[in-house]
Amino acid sequence: MAPAGSPVLTWGRPLLLVLSVLCNLILPSAAVKHDLFKTCSQSGFCARNRAYADAAASLSSSWASPYALDPSSLSFSDGQLRATVVKAVLGTDATANFPLTVSFLESGVARVTLDEERRRKGDIELRHGSKARKERYDEAAKWALVGGLELSKGAVMTEVDDPNGAAKVRYGPDGKFEAVVTFAPFSLEFLRDGATHVKFNERGLLNMEHWRQKKEKVEGEGEGEEGKQEMVDTPEDESTWWDESFGGNTDSKPRGPESVALDISFPGYEHVYGIPEHASSMSLKQTRGGHGNYNEPYRLYNADVFEYIMDSPMTLYGAIPFMQAHRKDSTVGLFWLNAAETWIDIVKAKTGANPLSLGVSGKTNTQTHWMSESGLLDVFVFLGPTPRDVTTKYGELTGFTQLPQEFAIAYHQCRWNYVTDQDVMAVDRKFDKHDIPYDVIWLDIEYTQEKKYFTFDPLTFPDPKKMHAQLDGHHRKLVAIIDPHIKNVGDYPIVDEMKSKGLAAMNKDGNAYEGWCWPGSSYWVDCFNPLAIEWWKGLFKYDRFIGTAPNTFIWNDMNEPSVFNGPETTMPKDNLHHGNWEHRDVHNLNGLTFVNATYEAMLYRDGKKPADMRRPFVLTRSFYAGSQRMGAMWTGDNQADWSHLAASLPMILNNGISGFPFAGADVGGFFGNPSKELLTRWYQAGAFYPFFRGHAHIDTRRREPYLVGEPYTSIITQALRLRYALLPAWYTAFHEASVTGAPVVRPMFYEHPADEASAPVDDQMYLGGTGLLVKPVTAEGQTAVDVYLPDSTPYFDYFDFTRYAGPGVVRVPAPLEKVPLLMGAGHIIPRRDRPRRSSGLMKYDPLTLVVVLDEAGGASGEVYLDDGESFDFEQGGYIHRRFALDAGTRALTSVDVAARKGAKTAAFERDMAGVKVERVVVVNAPEEWKGKTEVHVSEEGARESQRRRPVGFEWVEGAKGKASWAVVRNPKVGVGKGWKIDFS
Ligand code: GLC
Repeated sequence: MAPAGSPVLTWGRPLLLVLSVLCNLILPSAAVKHDLFKTCSQSGFCARNRAYADAAASLSSSWASPYALDPSSLSFSDGQLRATVVKAVLGTDATANFPLTVSFLESGVARVTLDEERRRKGDIELRHGSKARKERYDEAAKWALVGGLELSKGAVMTEVDDPNGAAKVRYGPDGKFEAVVTFAPFSLEFLRDGATHVKFNERGLLNMEHWRQKKEKVEGEGEGEEGKQEMVDTPEDESTWWDESFGGNTDSKPRGPESVALDISFPGYEHVYGIPEHASSMSLKQTRGGHGNYNEPYRLYNADVFEYIMDSPMTLYGAIPFMQAHRKDSTVGLFWLNAAETWIDIVKAKTGANPLSLGVSGKTNTQTHWMSESGLLDVFVFLGPTPRDVTTKYGELTGFTQLPQEFAIAYHQCRWNYVTDQDVMAVDRKFDKHDIPYDVIWLDIEYTQEKKYFTFDPLTFPDPKKMHAQLDGHHRKLVAIIDPHIKNVGDYPIVDEMKSKGLAAMNKDGNAYEGWCWPGSSYWVDCFNPLAIEWWKGLFKYDRFIGTAPNTFIWNDMNEPSVFNGPETTMPKDNLHHGNWEHRDVHNLNGLTFVNATYEAMLYRDGKKPADMRRPFVLTRSFYAGSQRMGAMWTGDNQADWSHLAASLPMILNNGISGFPFAGADVGGFFGNPSKELLTRWYQAGAFYPFFRGHAHIDTRRREPYLVGEPYTSIITQALRLRYALLPAWYTAFHEASVTGAPVVRPMFYEHPADEASAPVDDQMYLGGTGLLVKPVTAEGQTAVDVYLPDSTPYFDYFDFTRYAGPGVVRVPAPLEKVPLLMGAGHIIPRRDRPRRSSGLMKYDPLTLVVVLDEAGGASGEVYLDDGESFDFEQGGYIHRRFALDAGTRALTSVDVAARKGAKTAAFERDMAGVKVERVVVVNAPEEWKGKTEVHVSEEGARESQRRRPVGFEWVEGAKGKASWAVVRNPKVGVGKGWKIDFS
């Protein structure tokens, strides 16, 4: 949060009060947020590009984009098409050149890059004596991408037409994809199986604002008058070219206007998803007005948005410029690799009846308009055809989510603040006293000595070692916050070192930039600088961050960065970073670079040898494409309000399909005091967030689950135990995310891409590939929910096996004590049913398998296990089994998912040798099993006498409307072994 409005004032910190007055930030709370942040019309380049779009639309067919590819410049080799695109500068004879590269990647992804010749050559002048770089920023790829860039050997240019025509390139799997480059006006189309799925510059909105010299105007000469939107015969509107002011801050813009914009259309696509982070629906809305639509484009400009509002395209803390377009049986994607402020307009155009659908429905084209303030045009196109294809290819480029330590996917208990080490230890004991599981307790900013990070306040935290040791006694962890603002105060070695080594972000004059944040006057570590990363790594060593222990992990907050007295609560755009890149160019990457430095620090904290390393856990508030490689994110400062609980689901789903699935929202709501009912429902929903943490503002009442009172405490405890029981399923889903990019919680369309009605559904979700479908209650007083089922596959209530079948909506009872949770037929779900205090204490617990038979009598599923903390899994130190109950043979088998042999395989298998399956529950068990009292178990490596041993079995008839079920009692088969349970 930023100090705007009541919560900080009631917090009563005199320093912040003065600061708030100084910064003129005390505004009536409801109106605050909008006034602090720009609308498109207040952001010069957004207004200019929207005006450009309006003018083009008003000229309609007489509008021709002024960009043309020079055919004589065209070449194709080694999977890359290169050419020069020439812009005819409107109203003049001048031209500007933009080198184009279209790269066809081995993965089937195409990348389109447009640079500006003159800036690239440095053939420009900067104003105000600026030291900034002259080129368009080209290092976003360096931070965001980690692979997938191998050029295609199979891509071929099949056709180059006459000079005014087009070039065609065939590429992708089996040569099924085609790119068509039209020369004049310049446009690009991407086809799959002969049909166009993505079009660039169809509406002629490509706009690379070329460098130009500022002509000082003689007073009286018209500049910036109203109504200068017509482009053809009049000069452009220059009013925001050379400087821009907002909220009392002036951006000096030494490079003048340099925005990059492009229209990208998805013909025949009705839904687009992605571009987090917004408090909006998963299926994105139109942004050019009209009933139910927004009037503003979706904005990506990472910011500390105080008390953010619901159902809005307004920017939030993180930015992933990745979009998917979806229609029945086809999903395509787009990654706009640009780290500057970005706005995206979306309109959907009905194109009349689709002849193929016999006039039943109209066809929709979704048209998007991307606008960034600076940098290259650098766009990746994914042609699907499935959602999974798109997310996997995107993950190959930006990296898959890191496989977290197992504790990190268990429950986290946070608040601002646990005030003393005694307080922490007391909370820890109370969880135990009430038999409530949790893994991690968190320390917010008050643990530090006067907001000096890397210190514990000696008065309130005199014995952090003892605190850590108590937690460690139950395999619990502590997460401490470290923010990027470093207090500007004497006698603080961290700030002295940072300044003397020149590792702080700089103001436009090249001096360390000073601004205000929690500690008051502060400097910001510039993690774009490799030397800053090296320095930062040293700060987390146990002998530097005194009081920490191997069970300390880190929370990085305020990394947008949040600057209380900065424009839009962040840094001035003309600030400079390492390499003299302007903050303008890198803003949306800033949060990622900070977490990257912390991740590196945590990786090397225990030593440099792989055997010494444990997987880091870092939570971040700000993020960009690629941040998923480094940890988890949460949705920032929400409110204890039902609408915020409801909004968390589409936000988390959207993050998941945008490559960053380790996501959660503050359970209970950050601001305000939730009612007991809201808190309970929030825990039930939170038990299905990939990142599950309760958190609260310093002004709120304490709300640890044991304080809520009955029946709420028991119900919350049940929700927590449900999370813990399902940890093997969660861990398996995270493993899948870490190797394929599949989201951990998945929206309906992802699993049912052929079902049109699934496309907009964003309030129910699947847990990985388990077939578990949850629809949390998000409204007050609600006692039943409508769950959408896409087809006739039966689903069974998780708790009482009530049977439901679609297609269509089914009503599932949801009294307060129940989270609506269904199990899809055909799946096998791994669980650990013994209640424990923390996940670490469950490591050697036996498994329960829940086998949910489909109508044919079959089911399958997986479990992935490793030590939950080291990197041994990279050397085969894991168990990954596939379970299948074959409908024909009626045998349940366990086999290795893939052959695995590595240096650590045998050791891990030995470690897990005692871990058995203690129970198999079969839901929807056939009546033919009635009366059966035993089934036969065989296990690899068993002694002859044990080859086919009988074990106890019971079949239970389901009451009306409920499935019959059966249980195999203690088959005692090893979780890492091959085995078979014969039900025949
Ligand atoms: C920010 C964070 C919040 C935290 C607070 C104090 O507002 O979003 O989670 O509690 O700062 O550090």
